[in-house]
Formats: sequence, structure tokens, C-alpha cells
Amino acid sequence: MLLEAKNIFKAFRDTVVLNDISFSVDQGEVVSLVGQSGAGKTTAVRCVMGLEKCDKGTITINGRAVCKTENGVCTHATKKELAQIRRELGMVFQAYHLFPHLTVLENVTLALTDVYKIPKTEANEAAVAMLERLGLGDKINNKPNELSGGQKQRVAIARSCVTNPKLLCFDEPTAALDSALVVEMVNIIKDLAKKDGIGVLIISHDEKFVRDVSDRVLMMEQGRITRELSAEEFKQIMRA
Ligand SMILES: Nc1ncnc2c1ncn2[C@@H]1O[C@H](COP(=O)(O)OP(=O)(O)O)[C@@H](O)[C@H]1O
Ligand SMILES: [Mg+2]
Repeated sequence: MLLEAKNIFKAFRDTVVLNDISFSVDQGEVVSLVGQSGAGKTTAVRCVMGLEKCDKGTITINGRAVCKTENGVCTHATKKELAQIRRELGMVFQAYHLFPHLTVLENVTLALTDVYKIPKTEANEAAVAMLERLGLGDKINNKPNELSGGQKQRVAIARSCVTNPKLLCFDEPTAALDSALVVEMVNIIKDLAKKDGIGVLIISHDEKFVRDVSDRVLMMEQGRITRELSAEEFKQIMRA
């Protein structure tokens, strides 16, 4: 299993936000976490990314522990271990966090040259190929503020995918998109999962999008996963 999260607990002060949740994502699989605002979805993904430390539980990504709990004691990956784990992770945030002063190409190559120390020509080649795949070949020299919302999001995806992550997380990827762009997003995510074998974890409350993109759907309510559904079961529930 690519991602395995087991018995995760997390409280902020005395508010329990994750109350014993377990979930997994396999290679090439698209799994969605759905549920009302405040259910704990973002916190769950932040724990996976190591951006938030859970209080109890075990999370492994490709065999490496973000945190583990043994005999009731929870230990977290060191900074160095986390840096290693993050090399296999990509995250597309709700606000795309592009650098406004950099071009599209520079936004996408930055991690390759600065974190992965890949030579600039090689980084440029990889970035251009990824941008072309996402239909942005003619935008490489534009600045983010010259792009539409859908295009900005694709730049954010290109930036996350150019480093060849094994696991890709999206927080509300369709929040700012109209329906035609949602279809496009479904195709992009499916392509990354099925062609590249990337495991994808999505947070969303867009039911149609979730229905079309997911292999499995986990329903969250007040810090718990209340139902685990196959794509087909989720479709049936939506029809009802
Ligand atoms: N850093 C934080 N400090 C305190 N409470 C937080 C923090 N982050 C999230 N919460 C609370 O945790 C709950 C779950 O939030 P979140 O994970 O963002 O839910 P969702 O993404 O499902 O809307 C909410 O009640 C929220 O107010
Ligand atoms: Mg959220």
C-alpha cells in the first residue's frame, strides 16, 4: 500500500478533530475524502503531509513513517526524514500558492533546481514537457496574474507533478472552477493516476466531481470516517 494511515487522533486544545480514522491509498488509485466543512478533512491531509502532527496513530508513505505509535507512544519523523518523505509527495493547495514574480516555467522548475539540484536545462525540459501535457505549452513565459483560474491550477499541478511524486494530494481542486474545467480536472487527475501510477488523495465536497474522479470515497463526519464506498456505491447513493 502506498499510503496507510491507521488510528489517527488529533485534537486542537480540547477539540477532537480526528477521532480514530484509518484510510489508505494504493498506487494508481484515486481516493476522495468528502464531508461537511469542519469534518476534519484538511487536518487529515495535513497530518499525512507532516504539516500537522497527529497525537496518536501511524502513517506510512511508501514504507516510510510520517509518524508511528508503539505501546501508546507516538513518534514523528525527524525534519530530515520528513524532507525525504516529502520528495515522494505532491500537494495542490486550495489557493495555488504560485510565486507572482516568477513566470510559469520558473514556478515549475523552482523545486527541481533548488531542492532536487537538477541542472537548469534538464529542469526546463522536464517542466516544459509537463506543462505541454497539461495544455500550457503556450503559457510558459507568462506570469501567474496573466492566467485564468483553471490555468493557474494546472500550473500548480505541473509544479507538483514535475518532481514525479508517488502520492499527490488535492484540497478542494474544483472550488474555483466552472463545470467545463471540472471535466478537464477529472481527466487530468485520472491520467496521472492511471498512466503514471500516482496515488491521489482528494478532499472535496463537490459530489459530481468526486463521483467522476474517484475509485473510492470516504465519508467523514465530525472527525470520523463513517462510510467507505466504492465508486459504484457512491454513484448509487447520489442517485437516491
Ligand atoms: N490550527 C488549528 N487550530 C485550531 N483548530 C483548528 C485548526 N485547524 C483546524 N481546526 C479546527 O478543526 C476542525 C476541522 O477543520 P478542517 O480539518 O479544516 O475541516 P475540513 O477541511 O473538513 O473543513 C474545525 O473545527 C476547525 O475549526
Ligand atoms: Mg478543508
